[in-house]
Amino acid sequence: MKKVFIDTLGCQMNKSDTERMLGMLLRLGYEETKNDSEADLLMINTCSIRQLSEDKAFSQIGTWGQWKRQGKNIKIGFCGCVAQQKANEIFKRANYVDFVLGTHNIYKLPDIIKLVEQGQKVCECTETNDVNVDNTGEFDIVRVKSTNAWIPITEGCNNFCTYCIVPYTRGRERSHSPESIINEVKKALADGFREITLLGQNVDSYGKDFKDRHYRLVDLLRELNAIEGNFRIRFVTSYPTDITEELIDTVVESDKVCEYFHIPMQSGSSEVLKKMNRRYDRETYAKIVKHIREKVPDVTITSDFIAGFPGETEEQFQETLTAIDEFELDYSNVAAYSPREKTVAAKWTDKFIPDDIKQERFQRLNEKVKENCLKSNQKYLGRTMEVLIENYYEHKGEMINTGKTRNNKTVHIACNRDLTGQFVMAKITGIKTWYIRGELVDNSI
Ligand code: SAH
Ligand code: SF4
Ligand code: F3S
Repeated sequence: MKKVFIDTLGCQMNKSDTERMLGMLLRLGYEETKNDSEADLLMINTCSIRQLSEDKAFSQIGTWGQWKRQGKNIKIGFCGCVAQQKANEIFKRANYVDFVLGTHNIYKLPDIIKLVEQGQKVCECTETNDVNVDNTGEFDIVRVKSTNAWIPITEGCNNFCTYCIVPYTRGRERSHSPESIINEVKKALADGFREITLLGQNVDSYGKDFKDRHYRLVDLLRELNAIEGNFRIRFVTSYPTDITEELIDTVVESDKVCEYFHIPMQSGSSEVLKKMNRRYDRETYAKIVKHIREKVPDVTITSDFIAGFPGETEEQFQETLTAIDEFELDYSNVAAYSPREKTVAAKWTDKFIPDDIKQERFQRLNEKVKENCLKSNQKYLGRTMEVLIENYYEHKGEMINTGKTRNNKTVHIACNRDLTGQFVMAKITGIKTWYIRGELVDNSI
C-alpha cells in the first residue's frame, strides 16, 4: 500500500481541504502516514497570508527535494493558497515538485495523481468561481479525530481588504448548498463529533449568491439546531457590519448555537480602517459589540488586529490598544503587516512602517491582548460552566482533561479519567492568561 504524508499550514479552511484530499487519496488506495520519511507521496498545503507563511512552505519542501535528488522514489505535491497564486512559477523555484494544485480544483486530485504516477508534471490552478460547482460535498472526508468538525459553508471572499491576499487565493465568494452542509453535519455527528464549526471568510454572507432561493446563515443555524442530539454549533468568521439583528437573536434562541463571535476589527483607528477598505469605523464596531454583549449573556467576542499597516501613526496604533480595552475584547489574533503581491496596500511602499517599529508595535499589541485575556478569564472565577472535553494528557505528574466552555474558554480539569468527548460541569477555581482551571462538579458525569 502506498503511503501519503500531508503537511498543512494556514487556517482552518486549509485543514478542511486537507481532510477532503486525504479522503480522495484513501479511496485511491493510499494510506496516511504521519512520518514523511516513509511516504511515497508527500504533499504540502500552503498558506500565503503573510510572507513568513509563504517562506515556510518553500523551506519545508526543501528536504523532500533533497531526498528526491538522492534517488528516493517519491512524488511531491505543492497545494493550497501559494499554489493557487503562483501556479507554474512553483516548478521554476522547486523543480523537484511533481504537481501544483490550487484551492479551486482540489476535486481533481484523483486525476492528477494518475498522471503523476505515470511520470507527468501537472499544474492545476485555474480559477472556477462558478457558484454551481459544489463538488466538495461529495468527497469522503477523513476528519482529524477530535470533538470538533470544521465544515466550510462558503468559499472565497469578495471584500478585497487592501492588505489581504485571500480574494486572490480563494476566489469569489460562493456558498455550499444547505443540503450538502446538512448532510456533512449529520455524517460528522454520526461519526461521534460533538461540535460543529461552520467555516467561511465571511460566514454572515452565506447564501447571498443563491439566485433561486432566500436561505441565509440564520436559516442554516435554525435547521442545524433542530437536528436531534447533544452537540454544539459555532460559526466563524463574522464581518462586523454583516452581523444582523436576526443572527444575534438566533444565537440567543438556539440552544446548540454557542455564545461566541469572532469579529476581526483589524485596527482601532477609523482612518486606518478606511485605508484598509473595511466598511465600518471605530464607532460602528463599538456599537455592534456593545449590542451583542447586551443581548447575549456571557458572550465571548474575539478579534484580529494588524500592527504597522502602511501609514499607521503612533497615535493611530494607540487607538488599536484602547479599542481592545474599551470593547473588552476577550482575545485577539495579532500580526505585523506583511505586504502581499497583487494587493492594493502593497503598492504603498513609501508609507511602509520600518520593521523595528512594526515589531515593537506588534509586541505591545501582544501584551495588551494578554492583559485583556486574563481580565476576561477573571469574570468566570467561581462560576459553574459546561465544558466539552477535547483532550486528556499528563502535565507535571497530573492527569488533565482540557476542553472548551460554550463561550470558547479553555478549561483544564485535573481528573484521572479520560473524559474526551463528554460534556461535564466544572466549577472555575483558577485563572491563567490562556486558560482557566476548573473542578468537576459532582454528578456532572
Ligand atoms: N476573513 C477574515 C480574515 C481572514 S485572514 C476577516 O475578514 O477578518 C486572517 C487574518 O490575517 C486577518 O484577520 C488579518 O488580521 C490577518 N492578515 C491578513 N492579511 C494580512 C497581511 N497582509 N499582513 C498581516 N496580517 C494579515
Ligand atoms: Fe481578507 Fe478582508 Fe476577505 Fe477577510 S474579509 S478574507 S481580511 S479580504
Ligand atoms: Fe487560509 Fe492562509 Fe489561505 S489563512 S485562506 S490558508 S492564505
